[in-house]
Amino acid sequence: MKIIGTGSVIPKKVVTNDMLSEFLDTSDAWIYPRTGIKCRHVISDEKLEDLAIEAAKKALDDAGMKAGELDFIICSNVVNEYVTPSLSCIIQGGIGATCPCIDINCACAGFIYALDMAESYSKAGKVKNVLIVCAEEPTRMTSWKDRNVCVLFGDGAGAAVLTEGDNIKGTRLSAASATDKLYQIRTLEPTPYITKEETSIPMQMKGQDVFKFAVKASSGDIRHLLEELGMTPDDVDKFLLHQANIRIINAIRDQLGQPEEKFPHNVENHGNSSSASCPILLDECNKKGLLKKGDILALSAFGAGFISGAAVLEW
Ligand code: ACO
Repeated sequence: MKIIGTGSVIPKKVVTNDMLSEFLDTSDAWIYPRTGIKCRHVISDEKLEDLAIEAAKKALDDAGMKAGELDFIICSNVVNEYVTPSLSCIIQGGIGATCPCIDINCACAGFIYALDMAESYSKAGKVKNVLIVCAEEPTRMTSWKDRNVCVLFGDGAGAAVLTEGDNIKGTRLSAASATDKLYQIRTLEPTPYITKEETSIPMQMKGQDVFKFAVKASSGDIRHLLEELGMTPDDVDKFLLHQANIRIINAIRDQLGQPEEKFPHNVENHGNSSSASCPILLDECNKKGLLKKGDILALSAFGAGFISGAAVLEW
């Protein structure tokens, strides 16, 4: 397949590090040097499904495609206000599409997993045009009393439209179960028969373990995929990485031995927006004209699970 349109929408409420220090024992002097984050966009009166629909419409406009031409919608999402129906089905109605749709939860690696699915469905001859929407509100998963976690995240939606082509050169998916390192637990509706104890636990994270996993997994996925394709990191024009922490991005860059200018980033303005992070960055780079036709892009993301993946494509 090839990507022919991108779009993104972020909530209007901007929360700076100084604003966080008004109610948390934290500071810009702690957050910025350790994460590269200056501010994040946080959902206030918006609904995530509206951001997702708007991002999808922008990507369709950019692609010059009508919703009725879509053959499949893949939505990557961890949480939203609806348990059912799926967010992809809500997006389908919102944009006026009629095709089948599916939600995936691959945490922050969702865009890479969705690209792999789209490419596989296309190779199987089942689809021609696919819409991917990654819509996330991780700020609703953290305790805003926990300075270890809530300072890291922001919300948003990013989308891409794909059609037939041979621009996706390859994808690689990885998973290594480590459920105690990064998780959130919610309680379900009670029944008369439930006898076990259940408690909601906001997002918990072993930050240094996540950091080490992220660097190893992402640089490993990119290297292995490039080797499979007979390429080296030198052949890549831009590395579009999951925007979790500038120190993670820099450590991956060191592992790959590549110059800083190949790693565009926006973590300073968005924080970690889970799977929306990669398509938001892709859209920003696209709209700023940073991507030239023929550029080789390596995308990679990692997150809870642990799950990770990489994709190499020609722009
Ligand atoms: N403000 C002030 N102090 C803080 C804050 C804060 N916001 N958060 C933690 N601290 C304190 C801790 O309480 C701890 O204090 P103690 O030493 O007295 O116990 C101390 O700071 C920890 O400091 P460091 O060891 O320097 O922290 P570290 O360098 O490990 O940085 C961080 C922490 C930023 C979380 C880092 O581990 C990290 O980025 N990890 C990856 C996290 C991540 O990216 N997660 C998401 C990826 S997966 C996904 O996208 C879902």
